[in-house]
Amino acid sequence: MSRNILITGGAGFIGSHVVRLFVTKYPDYRIVNLDKLTYAGNLANLKDVEQAPNYRFERCDICDYDAVRAIFRKYDIDGVIHLAAESHVDRSIKDPFTFARTNVMGTLTLLQSAREHWNGAWDGKLFYHISTDEVYGALELTHPEGIEPPFSTTASSTEHLAYGADFFYETTKYNPHSPYSASKASSDHFVRAYHDTYGMPTLVTNCSNNYGPYQFPEKLIPLFINNIRHRKPLPVYGRGENVRDWLYVEDHARAIDVIFHRGKVAETYNIGGFNEWKNIDLVRVLVCTVDRLLGRKEGEDMDLITYVTDRPGHDMRYAIDSSKLQRELGWEPSLQFEEGIGKTVRWYLDNQAWMDNITSGEYERYYEEMYRNR
Ligand code: NAD
Ligand code: DAU
Repeated sequence: MSRNILITGGAGFIGSHVVRLFVTKYPDYRIVNLDKLTYAGNLANLKDVEQAPNYRFERCDICDYDAVRAIFRKYDIDGVIHLAAESHVDRSIKDPFTFARTNVMGTLTLLQSAREHWNGAWDGKLFYHISTDEVYGALELTHPEGIEPPFSTTASSTEHLAYGADFFYETTKYNPHSPYSASKASSDHFVRAYHDTYGMPTLVTNCSNNYGPYQFPEKLIPLFINNIRHRKPLPVYGRGENVRDWLYVEDHARAIDVIFHRGKVAETYNIGGFNEWKNIDLVRVLVCTVDRLLGRKEGEDMDLITYVTDRPGHDMRYAIDSSKLQRELGWEPSLQFEEGIGKTVRWYLDNQAWMDNITSGEYERYYEEMYRNR
């Protein structure tokens, strides 16, 4: 079946992996990547697919109602995978308004545009909204008896360790703490409201922390890999005790594919890899891996670790239970963390030009120039 699929935020980190997967796996689909190209959007993430005959790019702000409606009409969109968002918690603390605008009003604008275009003919339509585990709030950090944290500095000791008795389930009550997670929670509610009120076929998934190639280097893993390479300080917030649950980005993209095609309308699915790490342990693994791959003495850059003032309202622990998705749709993560983190570090070290282009601000100047001249 041919389909016209709108992927928003396709020039960002996760979006670029989703675009690549859909463009290559579904040659009969037309994939329209709608992205504003904010500081986080980078078309270099899609160099390998930009010439594909089934790929289109539209530079557009999801808050621009007229422009979004025109894109629905132009391509007769029948499926939406919505990833465009402001995604960085620290930025949301400094500038909450931008998060409310893009994440809440932008999502609402897309929903209303889809509703208008589909005009009640819901058959074969789907609005799939990508959300985060952060909407559930924070879990407590406890060490169940007999379980020791992975103090080893390699990733090889990672059988599943839970840092607490509780997990986020699809039924967990929303309790967001940061302006980012509050804005994502609000957008999730709007998506569900469009199903309940108008009958629009919608789906929401809540995923844990992603890692892998093309992540903007404001986020922990790419920032620290780059800093270790250049022997710059590694600013660990607080005592580095906070726990995050890490999933390789291509596994998230595969989950999105499975859920887009086989997920049950109006359902919520949690996506995660049962892969909890304390920040400080993860940072030690990064130091050892970068050192090893650069031919340095493993661990010699450990003294770059610098404890800095904690993030305000820093959620202590995220841990997602994705067994519903595994049980009902047969998805499971393909990569062990050891393999995923090795691949990731190698990718950033091999793609230093990609990183330098961002850290020098070069790519933003390039796009501004290109679009000013249109
Ligand atoms: P990102 O910041 O790397 O990319 C966001 C993309 O959205 C960029 O290309 C940006 O240009 C675009 N964008 C921002 N504002 C826009 C606007 N007004 N109009 C059009 N495009 C706009 O983000 P990411 O990490 O790839 O996250 C993608 C989605 O997945 C987000 O919705 C995020 O909440 C969610 N998510 C992320 C993670 C994670 O670990 N990164 C985990 C779970 C869920
Ligand atoms: O859980 C899913 C979320 O994961 C997504 O919804 C967000 O879009 C994504 O950015 C990510 O949020 P986090 O805040 O968990 O990711 P970040 O990489 O910013 O931070 C990971 C952990 O590392 C967190 O506990 C804060 C800490 N940290 C982060 C940075 C950037 C540091 O200690 N120092 C740092 O410099």
